[in-house]
Amino acid sequence: MTSTSVFQGAAIHSQDQTSFEILDEATLVITNGRITAFFKSSSHIPPGAIPEDATFYNLPHGDFLMPGFIDTHNHAPQWPMRGRGQGLHILDWLDQVTFPVEARFADPKYASRIYEDTVDDFLRHGITTASYYSSRHAEATRILANTCHRKGQRAFIGKCNMDRNAPDYIRESDAKTSLRETEECIQHIRTLPGYGHNDPSALVWPVVTPRFAISCTPELLRGLGDLVKRDRTLAIQTHFNEAQQEIDATRDLFPEFNGSEADLYESFGLLNRRSILAHCTIMTDYEKEKLKMLECGVAHCPIANMTVGGGFMVAPVRDFLSRGIKVGLGTDSGGGWASQMLAVIRQTMIASNAREVLSEGKDKALSLEEVFYLATMGGAKVLCLEDQIGNFEVGKEFDAIWVTTTSGLQSAMTPREDDDSLQTIFEKFILTGDDRNMAHVYVRGRRVAGSAYPRA
Ligand code: GUN
Ligand code: FE
Repeated sequence: MTSTSVFQGAAIHSQDQTSFEILDEATLVITNGRITAFFKSSSHIPPGAIPEDATFYNLPHGDFLMPGFIDTHNHAPQWPMRGRGQGLHILDWLDQVTFPVEARFADPKYASRIYEDTVDDFLRHGITTASYYSSRHAEATRILANTCHRKGQRAFIGKCNMDRNAPDYIRESDAKTSLRETEECIQHIRTLPGYGHNDPSALVWPVVTPRFAISCTPELLRGLGDLVKRDRTLAIQTHFNEAQQEIDATRDLFPEFNGSEADLYESFGLLNRRSILAHCTIMTDYEKEKLKMLECGVAHCPIANMTVGGGFMVAPVRDFLSRGIKVGLGTDSGGGWASQMLAVIRQTMIASNAREVLSEGKDKALSLEEVFYLATMGGAKVLCLEDQIGNFEVGKEFDAIWVTTTSGLQSAMTPREDDDSLQTIFEKFILTGDDRNMAHVYVRGRRVAGSAYPRA
């Protein structure tokens, strides 16, 4: 059965890094979750273009539609520990704060309860797509996948691999078991109810997730690389050049790579166009060129980089973009304290201003429009989903946020004035708004969250 919805009102999206479209009077036609027409002004709608039985939604003045946020780096089991361990260096933060929390996910009942709230929280904040690390526990990983599937969040889910350099209570027993459980989780995710095996229309996807080289034996990294070689549709994610303490420890464990994590992960077959590399804060030109050549994506996580992890790390995002390297944003919940992409956007602005100063003007700060691009279309490219989501191009799926700025919401947003332009409303929302401004959140046309009642 065909169902068509028509949204009429303001719409904002990025066509690419340099073209940001802000439309006062758009009309979006959504048929079975897909954008089938996009008229950019109300006077451009040909007669008969909209089916008679369509359901209409008119956005009041001050409201607008934007693409859903794409979170390219997120640890679901760390959601209940956000905010803890500020200022600790990365390996100490893992030992003292993170591993004890992730260990609780050995209990499926605990995992079910926490993941219910975790996924709700990210959806409420407009994160329509997330790339999640689960804990190392297979059952909890399946529970996370089931939870995203049931709630309708688009997601990549990876069982975290870690068979060394972690305490007994969380470390995996050996590489073979880790690999077997990883394959079982991939199989589970690929046969979630309603989809065929490896169905291109699935919303939830597996991702191979070696935590980082420090916590994986060469045998495990090799086995994961072999999985990827056998199946080119598999995404990969890991932490990459995050902080000096981590880089030094990696060099000690793998001296043969002379300090190059790019060479290390490449040698195990883990770098390709589906690789999502979190952080990338300390990078040589050689490594940047390698990421560009291999088409890897960067998950920029400025909140974690400037709080936990080992100091004030500012990734060279402008340089990545100038070289044509794909970049998206990540909450890195819980190294990052926020489950809000709005907070990540703000911190990206701060980090890029700092980078301009630190580089003595060489790396120009990012504009708000460029950061918005990273949070939407840039993330879609990192996840190789640019043909499905990221903006409102005809043919893509409707993953969107209906932003409301009507008074009386009690949101933190700077009040809207009657004569504000759409650009001003947009700026006020991005810099000061919150989830109370997100009236409806849609994934593939299905309303999955939102502050508004009644529902649209
Ligand atoms: N490196 C290895 N594991 C982690 C993690 O959980 N968070 C962060 N930020 N870095 C890591
Ligand atoms: Fe992380």
